[in-house]
Amino acid sequence: MKFLSKLALCLGAAVLLSGCERPPIETVQTGYRGTGMEQIYNPRTLAKEAALNQAPVAAEAASAEGPKASEVYQNVKVLGDLSVGQFNRQMAAITQWVAPDQGCAYCHNVQNFADDSMYTKVVARRMIEMTQKVNQDWKTHVADTGVTCYTCHRGNNVPTQVWNAPKDRKYANSLLGDLAGQNMATKEAGLSSLPFDPFTPYLKDALPIRVNGNEAMAGVGSNANRASTKQAEYTYSLMVHMSDSLGVNCTYCHNTRNFQSWEESRPQRVTSWYGIRMARELNNEFMTPLTDTFPAHRLGAKGDVAKVNCSTCHQGAFKPLYGAQMAKDYPELQVLAKP
Ligand code: HEC
Ligand code: HEC
Ligand code: HEC
Ligand code: HEC
Repeated sequence: MKFLSKLALCLGAAVLLSGCERPPIETVQTGYRGTGMEQIYNPRTLAKEAALNQAPVAAEAASAEGPKASEVYQNVKVLGDLSVGQFNRQMAAITQWVAPDQGCAYCHNVQNFADDSMYTKVVARRMIEMTQKVNQDWKTHVADTGVTCYTCHRGNNVPTQVWNAPKDRKYANSLLGDLAGQNMATKEAGLSSLPFDPFTPYLKDALPIRVNGNEAMAGVGSNANRASTKQAEYTYSLMVHMSDSLGVNCTYCHNTRNFQSWEESRPQRVTSWYGIRMARELNNEFMTPLTDTFPAHRLGAKGDVAKVNCSTCHQGAFKPLYGAQMAKDYPELQVLAKP
């Protein structure tokens, strides 16, 4: 009996410890010495990640000569300025990026390519504009690296990392009574007890993320900091998501002696500030207006469309696809088509 319980103890310890990193680990310093600003990497995880972040090889550029797609085809509303050769190269690319198994038929009634009856085609047309919008107007975030459909889709019809508003879990069968939007150990909150939907308030609505006061203690009068602990928990939940999406920890952006200070933060924090605004715009200007276009089975528990967060593009990497410059091979996705 004694032996058995010892064995159980050992097994239990083995399970517990298996969550820790086995050496070797690598440390990269990202701030001044003594500030604790460093990132810890596990080379085994990095090797696995590298394989997942390979960008596909681009097809050879097509000639801009010859008649335009708008002159040859019947129902081209966005890519009409391309030559027919460029247009077909683009169709082949989006097939490889979004529907490699189903092919053209994923978006087309192949009896009539001009037909718009499949919702996937209508969504794809808007997605082309969304991609152009990111590359043209959000250089503050994506720089010249830019994005293509592959950045989010990676060969899947539906990107693997999207979010929907969670169903109400107000009075779940829990010892804690009212869950109040937290205490669920969800993936979104990094398996912590933090609020499990930091996306609706910050990546759809524009609630204030800042919670620190400008003065010592709580401040007084109009300078008083009225942010609640609960609000701070939402901010932390968003921060956990951002760290997780990029495969980094808080010190990738902050000097943790002062989370608030921009002077002491790394430039990556500024990039992220724009990233938050960009994700918000994609969700409000592009995704949400498509709600009625999607079939019911693609919508979430609350009837909302799947939306974008940091991991939709980043998928665990500090830059999507480790900064592979694949967008430059598709100039037609760089600027918004003329209306
Ligand atoms: C992910 C969705 C998607 C896939 C897959 C796709 N297409 Fe398209 N296709 C579109 C969209 C969107 C348009 C309209 C573009 C526009 O309005 O500028 C279009 C338009 C066309 C047109 C113009 C038809 C007309 O007369 O208006 C042709 C031809 C075409 N596609 C061929 C193809 C071929 C060939 C394939 C497979 C290699 C393919 N497409 C795969 C989304 C797709
Ligand atoms: C910023 C990320 C992002 C980019 C870039 C992006 N998409 Fe999407 N796409 C999404 C999200 C989010 C959805 C909604 C998921 C769903 O279908 O429920 C979606 C859905 C779709 C769908 C519907 C799939 C289905 O089965 O319901 C198609 C088709 C599509 N995208 C095509 C494209 C094409 C073509 C491009 C490039 C021109 C592109 N997407 C670029 C994020 C992106
Ligand atoms: C990828 C960059 C990035 C990472 C990683 C990151 N943050 Fe942030 N953090 C930001 C940005 C950007 C803001 C400001 C958001 C805004 O005002 O829109 C911010 C704001 C904050 C604030 C509010 C500061 C204030 O002025 O009230 C706190 C607190 C915070 N972060 C904590 C954390 C914690 C804890 C972590 C790790 C779990 C973390 N952050 C990881 C970018 C980051
Ligand atoms: C539409 C796709 C997309 C989304 C959504 C997105 N990013 Fe990015 N992000 C990129 C691209 C592309 C780059 C590479 C830019 C470059 O090469 O400088 C990048 C770069 C960054 C960097 C700079 C990394 C470095 O070391 O220089 C940070 C930090 C970052 N993103 C944070 C975020 C955060 C936080 C969010 C969510 C609020 C987010 N991103 C959402 C596409 C995206």
